[in-house]
Amino acid sequence: MDSNLIIDIVYETSKILASSLDYLKNIEKIIRLVKNYTNLEYISVRIEDKDTQELKVLSHTDIELPHLRYKKGEGITGKVWQYGVPVVIQDISKEESFLNKSLIAKHKNKKVAFLAVPIKVEKEVIGVLSAYKIVKENESFDMYIRLLSLIANMTGQFIKLYLDVKQEKEKLEKEKLVLKRQIEKMLSSSQLEGIIGKSKAVLELSQMIKKIAPTSATVLLTGESGVGKEVFAKALHFHSPRASKPFIKINCAAIPEELLESELFGYEKGAFTGATHTKKGKFELADGGTIFLDEIGDMPLSLQAKILRVLQEKEIERLGSSSPRKIDVRIIAATNKDLEKMVYEGTFREDLYYRLNVISLYIPPLRDRKEDIPLLVYYFLDVFNKEYGKDLTISDALMEKLVEYDWPGNIRQLQNTLERMIILSKDKILTDKDLPIDIKKQVTTQSSPNKKLQLPKTVEEIEKEAITKALEESGYIIKDAAKKLGMTPRQVRYRIDKYSIPLKKGRFR
Ligand SMILES: Nc1ncnc2c1ncn2[C@@H]1O[C@H](COP(=O)(O)OP(=O)(O)OP(=O)(O)O)[C@@H](O)[C@H]1O
Ligand SMILES: [Mg+2]
Repeated sequence: MDSNLIIDIVYETSKILASSLDYLKNIEKIIRLVKNYTNLEYISVRIEDKDTQELKVLSHTDIELPHLRYKKGEGITGKVWQYGVPVVIQDISKEESFLNKSLIAKHKNKKVAFLAVPIKVEKEVIGVLSAYKIVKENESFDMYIRLLSLIANMTGQFIKLYLDVKQEKEKLEKEKLVLKRQIEKMLSSSQLEGIIGKSKAVLELSQMIKKIAPTSATVLLTGESGVGKEVFAKALHFHSPRASKPFIKINCAAIPEELLESELFGYEKGAFTGATHTKKGKFELADGGTIFLDEIGDMPLSLQAKILRVLQEKEIERLGSSSPRKIDVRIIAATNKDLEKMVYEGTFREDLYYRLNVISLYIPPLRDRKEDIPLLVYYFLDVFNKEYGKDLTISDALMEKLVEYDWPGNIRQLQNTLERMIILSKDKILTDKDLPIDIKKQVTTQSSPNKKLQLPKTVEEIEKEAITKALEESGYIIKDAAKKLGMTPRQVRYRIDKYSIPLKKGRFR
């Protein structure tokens, strides 16, 4: 190999290095170039794998090259890495410490040399560049070593840059992953099973539920109809140590007044006509578990006193019995009525209200947490698709309308609406045309005044506001207000007239 060839290779190498910022590709191009110009083969660049502290292949010209890894000082390559000096093995078959046995086997009948040079950046050996050569008679390897050293010197900085960038990227990826996990963990720790929603209100409620679940404190759930009071009541029970015991719901509005008492407390045989056997009440059945008093605002006053006693004494008495029984139940009550107002009006006992209101959780209406709507929509879509054996998706326009609508019946209404749309749809996709007529009407009329409200302010409005504010702040002294605004008093006076801004304090100078 003559020195002209070396100059050519160096020249081409410098061109490649300047051609692009894809360092890895450049390195690969360069070693291929070297292979094409010389008789060197199996050229490879190895760098340190920081995790295992071994040299591993970064780039190589020949696929068959075994991906051997070297520890520092191990084999020839490991020694070049350790000592930072070039090495030539004239005949690899004669070299004891040569590790790449498969290559020796492959070239059984030929004499193969191995050349390796360190890749250095400043004083640090960051890798090893190596190559094989089938040896001709009396060949000298000086030129080859010189060439490889030149290439190693020229590419070292770029390899280092490539490694730094890669490391930085990996670090960022790792950080991103950690962050993602943290967010997921945070979400899952504040989110409750069976409760869909990501709004601040839902996440806070869920966190609160987790906090109070282990206690036996009475909880009052309030909120409009269909907001999920029962869903939260169940979540509270199933996250509590009472989870394996019964959760019994009593709808205080649905049971006739005369029956409610016997439903709640049970009765002894013969307690009244028709009481042919003893019957346990719901409180007794729920022993160890939770009683959910739904629609507590509809409980008759007469029964309110009896419930109060259960709360105070933790005991019940069956109808027709004179011996009280101890029970251990947690009480969760719910209502969409304004109990405080009822107390004021005398239709709800004040003492019971305070007993129930130990921990009070308000579940806001869906229109105040619209960010939950898309999640709920996808959730119900999934539920009903499964239930009705369909595979419907939803158009963006429909989703927009669903988010826009006010949902006076809250989640229950949303759920029913989607179920209905899914049952009735004959297409693969639900669109805004599938909306029930009443909702469709409301969304279109609803959207126009809303849009108007959202219009950005006009220049005049902004100017008027600024001048009014400046006047107020400067005690209605026009000269001072003008200074504040960076205007002349004349300009301000002109605008006061134009916008008919009242000069309340009556000072005009
Ligand atoms: N966050 C939620 N995630 C999933 N489903 C919900 C959620 N909130 C409510 N639902 C569903 O919406 C419907 C109404 O909820 P729920 O019965 O708990 O409301 P409510 O507040 O008790 O209403 P009402 O005052 O009318 O009794 C139920 O079918 C429930 O499963
Ligand atoms: Mg309910």
